[in-house]
Amino acid sequence: MDLGLTGKTAVVTGASKGIGLATARCFLEEGARVAICARHEEALEQAAKELSSLGEVMTFCGDMTRQEDVDTLAEKALTRFGRVDCWINNVGASIRRAGRDYTPDEIRRTVDVCFTSAVYGCQAAGRVLGRGGVIVNISSLAARCGTAGRSTLYGPLKAAVSHLAVMFAAEYASRGIRAVSVLPGFTITPAVRAGIAPEELRRNEAGTLLQRMADPAEIARPIVFLCSDAASYITATSLEVSGGRSVILNPEFVTEGNDAG
Ligand SMILES: NC(=O)c1ccc[n+]([C@@H]2O[C@H](COP(=O)([O-])OP(=O)(O)OC[C@H]3O[C@@H](n4cnc5c(N)ncnc54)[C@H](OP(=O)(O)O)[C@@H]3O)[C@@H](O)[C@H]2O)c1
Repeated sequence: MDLGLTGKTAVVTGASKGIGLATARCFLEEGARVAICARHEEALEQAAKELSSLGEVMTFCGDMTRQEDVDTLAEKALTRFGRVDCWINNVGASIRRAGRDYTPDEIRRTVDVCFTSAVYGCQAAGRVLGRGGVIVNISSLAARCGTAGRSTLYGPLKAAVSHLAVMFAAEYASRGIRAVSVLPGFTITPAVRAGIAPEELRRNEAGTLLQRMADPAEIARPIVFLCSDAASYITATSLEVSGGRSVILNPEFVTEGNDAG
């Protein structure tokens, strides 16, 4: 299927690694040009070097929890490419913390990185996207499932990130701009791999219909699809990409290899 993204421009926030990097790669493979950002310059430039054989890449070193940085990213992408068609609010992070233990500073930082960055992104995107433009907010399966005790504030903030897409979809609809959210399940990024104990990994896999965690590219491809003309009637909604993680109550049934038709 031709996704019709050739010559278009995508801004991907938080794209020096993980899902953001995979998304930038996927856009380039579809013929789009990309602007990627992150806070640490060395990793960002390394990512750009990796991607550059696939197409045109602009880098911006900045912090998406700072409105002036988000606005500068938008201006620079528009100046460099002459148009911005897709905007992916991918920045987000969680800390392992029970709800009762968050300090005021941790609450503020979690809200900033998970939610405020997406608000600034939706605002900036609204200034640079033209008709046919698309915003994708990267939420999480945690928006739907309880992760209490593990990172208690992350899920509620990701639910807000999903609903933010609905609100901006309504606000920008008359200008021909769509907005959606994607809810990834456990995805094997370098940070997840480093932070998860083998037994927890196995438990997560066993509790997923597809019996494994996602590769970042498996999250990136649906994101890019949602930005394409093939998704032209999809707006104000969310897409869970979790391998069936949220629906399984009896994982043993799946692991027993039940193939009775
Ligand atoms: N991996 C999963 O299992 C999973 C599951 C569900 C949802 N998600 C969501 O998917 C998104 C990507 O997750 P990931 O696991 O791919 O993350 P990751 O591997 O930790 O990568 C995060 C990227 O964002 C950048 N970044 C972080 N804070 C930033 C900020 N304030 N300003 C600019 N850039 C920033 C990082 O670079 P710098 O550190 O250099 O800034 C890095 O490039 C997040 O929103 C996450 O909540 C992930």
